Amino acid sequence: MRPQIATLLKGASIDQEITVMGWVRTFRNNQFIALNDGSTNQNLQVVVDFTKLDESLLKRITTSACIAATGKLVQSQGKGQSVELEAHSLEILGDSDAEKYPLQPKKHSLEFLREIAHLRFRTNTFASVNRLRNALIFGIHQFFQERNFLNIHTPIISASDAEGAGEMFRVTTLHLENLPKTDAGEIDYAEDFFGRSSNLTVSGQLEAELAAMAFTKVYTFGPTFRAENSNTTRHLAEFWMIEPEVAFNELKDNADLAESMLKYVIQYAMDRHPDDIDFLDARLAEEEKQKPTNERAEMGLKEKLNFVLNNNFERITYTEAIEILLLSPAYKKKKFKYDVSWGIDMQSEHERYLVEKHFNKPVIVTDYPKNIKAFYMRQNDNCEPGKETVAAMDILAPGIGEIIGGSQREERLEKLEQRMNEMEIPTKEMFWYLDTRRFGTCKHAGFGLGFERLVQFVTGMGNIRDVIPFPRTPKNCEF
Ligand code: 4AD
Ligand code: MG
Repeated sequence: MRPQIATLLKGASIDQEITVMGWVRTFRNNQFIALNDGSTNQNLQVVVDFTKLDESLLKRITTSACIAATGKLVQSQGKGQSVELEAHSLEILGDSDAEKYPLQPKKHSLEFLREIAHLRFRTNTFASVNRLRNALIFGIHQFFQERNFLNIHTPIISASDAEGAGEMFRVTTLHLENLPKTDAGEIDYAEDFFGRSSNLTVSGQLEAELAAMAFTKVYTFGPTFRAENSNTTRHLAEFWMIEPEVAFNELKDNADLAESMLKYVIQYAMDRHPDDIDFLDARLAEEEKQKPTNERAEMGLKEKLNFVLNNNFERITYTEAIEILLLSPAYKKKKFKYDVSWGIDMQSEHERYLVEKHFNKPVIVTDYPKNIKAFYMRQNDNCEPGKETVAAMDILAPGIGEIIGGSQREERLEKLEQRMNEMEIPTKEMFWYLDTRRFGTCKHAGFGLGFERLVQFVTGMGNIRDVIPFPRTPKNCEF
């Protein structure tokens, strides 16, 4: 096993002869190489004796060159590092022309780095984000596995629209220039690869529900795709979603599960990578300083995460949320761009007000109007006529807005069929979904956590394009 720099800096292999490999960050005084291998933002100082090295070799030690250095790891004499490598031999594994290398040892804007996403892994910010992203993936699996949830792989290509929102990417092998037509002049999908029209999935929920009706507790963790033309700092066309589904759970159990999961994975990531959290905390503080005082976040990254861990999420109904908004100074002073009344789909300015101004912590909003939510949500009993609600829940997080969307599901066949008909969701095609309500139905609930929004929350990154290696957004499919 080759030693990793993170391990070496913790004091492993001291006074031993070792070989390290990595990429040169800087080379100072023909003597000191700052070497990085991605295991930590801390570089290993490699000291070379330039009197013993060939001039031509020295010249090839450039920023971004890949090298292998062999020598003894010793306690460092200099300031700023605990150990260093006294290299007696050096091999250039991959040359790099520092003049042409787009990343200079200076601060680059996040926008610029997005244009060179193939190289931005080598920056401290993206290294920290990606290590935390990895810890969150593992933490999520661990949370569910410890609780005996079964991980289910749901299909990526699908013929149904799980959200009924029509925001799907079509999957086809038909020739776009020469489409087969039916006698009626419509595109003949019978000729297509699957013999029917198919899409990339927007959610694994419906299939997860089928599995929950056998295994009781399941979760999916997969890529999902949305062809919504939203150019915001919170939307991707391709993102990863975690969707647990639990038989016998009601809405409150669902909210409890979501809150404990979020706290668990945040703690997990913080424990795993305290240095990266510190780095991003400082980065964010620096970024905040550039903003006008009234736009600055009240808490730093670490403070915010600890606050979330140590406090209960606020739980309110949609109706209460609307009441709070109507009574708010922001509403009275006409600060909201969009009007507020019972029945609206809250805009992000409303959600932000609730979370960042009113409660200043994560908020779980439940029982939304039936008309603004998906067909599968359980219809609440005993609603005031005209104010019908469903057992939905959204979790709103400071700085992010909606991080989780979920609900208790409609388990009553007639009610579900009726709602699907109202919303023109094809009941015949979705016989398989309805079958679970025909054969041993039961109460159940689940939710979807947008993974990139979680990574944004934990890293403090303002733009979702900076928490996934290769973002897919409208008009952008580079790399
Ligand atoms: O609220 P959504 O659309 O809910 C569902 O898809 C349900 N089937 C989930 C379930 O109950 N099993 O999406 C769930 C979450 C959102 O709360 C948000 O965090 C994230 O997915 N999300 C997106 N993240 C990035 N880019 C987008 N375009 C997103 N759309 C939703
Ligand atoms: Mg939603």
